[in-house]
Amino acid sequence: MLLEVKEISKKYGTFPALNPISCNMESGELIGLVGSNGAGKTTFIKILSTLIKPTTGDILLDGKSIVKYPMAMQKNIGYLPQDIAIYPNLSAVEFLMYISALKKVSKKEAVKQVDYLLETLHLTDVKNKRLSDYSGGMKQRVGIASALLGNPKIIIVDEPTTGLDPEERVILRNILSKLACSKIVLLSTHIISDIEAVATSIMVLKKGNLMFHNTPEILLHNANGYVWEYILPIDRIIDDLTGVSSMIQTEQGIKIRQVCAEKPFSDAMLAKATLEDACLCVLEEVF
Ligand SMILES: Nc1ncnc2c1ncn2[C@@H]1O[C@H](COP(=O)(O)OP(=O)(O)OP(=O)(O)O)[C@@H](O)[C@H]1O
Ligand SMILES: [Mg+2]
Repeated sequence: MLLEVKEISKKYGTFPALNPISCNMESGELIGLVGSNGAGKTTFIKILSTLIKPTTGDILLDGKSIVKYPMAMQKNIGYLPQDIAIYPNLSAVEFLMYISALKKVSKKEAVKQVDYLLETLHLTDVKNKRLSDYSGGMKQRVGIASALLGNPKIIIVDEPTTGLDPEERVILRNILSKLACSKIVLLSTHIISDIEAVATSIMVLKKGNLMFHNTPEILLHNANGYVWEYILPIDRIIDDLTGVSSMIQTEQGIKIRQVCAEKPFSDAMLAKATLEDACLCVLEEVF
């Protein structure tokens, strides 16, 4: 499948939440969508999911406009919203069977898929408990299972790792990575490690602008030469924390890691960029 995003933008009233964005997404890709709070990630995702219409622009799915024909998308998408609504009185099995029915999956197939997803997402032991008794992370996993039901060709998940513990985040990362072999997977997150090693491309949004869209390798390459480390005496406080990605107290003083176009301090040494540094470089517009 090919999804062509053509100059889509979104205004809420007069507020420009998304400035014109163009990009292509193809089966086999896992696209990591990153950006600070309010960057426009959910807005972009809601437009792709046909929940809201763009103010301008169009999106073509295999050549057909999903703005004009939302059904073309709705038949193919598994979408996990940022704030999922789960029916508290249902068990995970009942909820997932209900979603399967909405997605018009046959009963026999639904039983098979629900079983498989509950097992994969480590929910089998609690599958008959009421969802109101689930922890936040467990509810999130049920939401993920509901998005994967019906084997959709496009999977769009908006901050799916919120509330998941580190082990569960790794499980989810691996599931999505496997799915992306044959599907389009778009994953929005604040946590760069969620997409590290699995994203085939990364989109960085800032205040409604697409600042970067390319492979992680290129992002890392671009950041080389802009990541610095230096040690400051404990009593020397820096006021401007722009671009500082970490401050660690050591015996010698405070070890600071900072992205910066120029050497920020006379003793600063260049360090190898991580994906997190590289995203920070884009957000701070270091290059
Ligand atoms: N329905 C709405 N009406 C008015 N403004 C909105 C609406 N939805 C979002 N916005 C604004 O549009 C901007 C983008 O919001 P959006 O939810 O897309 O950001 P986000 O990147 O998903 O943020 P977060 O990381 O907090 O989820 C924000 O400034 C937000 O306040
Ligand atoms: Mg959001």
